[in-house]
Amino acid sequence: MNLEKLSEETRRRCERLAREIKKRFGPGERVRFFRAPGRVDLMGSHTDYNQGLILAGAVNRDIVAGARLRPDGRLNFYSQNLDLEVRTSLGQNRPDPAHGWANYPRGVIQELARLDLVVPGLDLAVHGAVPVGANLSSSAALEAVTITAALSLLGQSLAAWERIHLCHRAETDFVGLPCGILDQFSVIMGQPETALFLDCRSLEYQALPFPSDQASLVITDSGIGRELVASAYSARVAECKQAAEQFRRFRPQVRSLRDVTEADLQAFGPLLPETLFRRARHVVTENLRVEQAAAALRRGNPAELGPIMEAGYQSSRDDYQNSIPELDRLHEIAVAVPGALGTRIAGAGWGGCLVSLVQPEVLNIFMKKVPARYREQTGREAKTLAVTLSGGPEEIPL
Ligand code: GLA
Repeated sequence: MNLEKLSEETRRRCERLAREIKKRFGPGERVRFFRAPGRVDLMGSHTDYNQGLILAGAVNRDIVAGARLRPDGRLNFYSQNLDLEVRTSLGQNRPDPAHGWANYPRGVIQELARLDLVVPGLDLAVHGAVPVGANLSSSAALEAVTITAALSLLGQSLAAWERIHLCHRAETDFVGLPCGILDQFSVIMGQPETALFLDCRSLEYQALPFPSDQASLVITDSGIGRELVASAYSARVAECKQAAEQFRRFRPQVRSLRDVTEADLQAFGPLLPETLFRRARHVVTENLRVEQAAAALRRGNPAELGPIMEAGYQSSRDDYQNSIPELDRLHEIAVAVPGALGTRIAGAGWGGCLVSLVQPEVLNIFMKKVPARYREQTGREAKTLAVTLSGGPEEIPL
């Protein structure tokens, strides 16, 4: 990032964080600034922990952090959005459910220490423009901004995949959610106007052009929290494992649902309990849809993703059952807008957001119409947000 590109808004956000750090945590080293984006998944819902395929990218909504090392072993965190402070120390750095958001940076610091990259103490203040609880992965953005800040302040570096795995471990081992690699990968590898096609088994990936002037992306936030997400998510992870075990009885080569083919589904699916069959059918067909979506981008046709996203939505709703009535209603409204190409559930589901692909000419109409119709029909508020695919974490030169 060069200085001319630094927006006034980013500068103001940073200056405010520096003031908070000095006011709350006292004098110390110069505060430096960092940013990390949220992510949007374009295709591939709940395929990552099944060793499947995903198509995703980072978005132009970020978390900005002010950070500096301290010599005294203290770990001080401040969230400007929540106006909340968490004070702890290296010796006390264990997950604490009361500290919700602060567990993500704490987890990263813990994982760094396990690699002998020990921060001697840290002040970290964050301001997020990634909506929280909306399935845009504000948590991975928080992990990524923490690792970027910590490594820069320590004068150390780690390869991108090491950072991805480390942030992933912060989430699975420290915070305790058995998630896949989608979020950390998309946030850390983000590139402008680019979608990333990842094979979650081989970890091979391909950067595919996604020019924003050919198809626009809109997030529609239902505003409905995701209270059930942790338990429902873990339950789905377990069901997928069980489904894979069932298929293994018939075909010993099946290691995960990634290895189940459409022919297996037809031959052995009916022998599975109905729920497990549905989960498997979603994952198997979703992997095929990710391949189709990537092929459309290789042909230079992002608009072709629309119908594929639509089919993905139906599979999520009916087979994976991670939708909720409010998302179904919003989906119905979104697809009825002329020029809307396709709409699917973002991230884990069970609330949060939809992602829509729309023709650029109708972007503004879509952004207004969807919340207006939703309000008319339900009396509830939903928010739309246009996003573009953007770059990964970096230091802000201030
Ligand atoms: C959440 C998880 C990801 C992924 C998605 C669903 O965002 O953190 O690993 O499983 O849900 O695709």
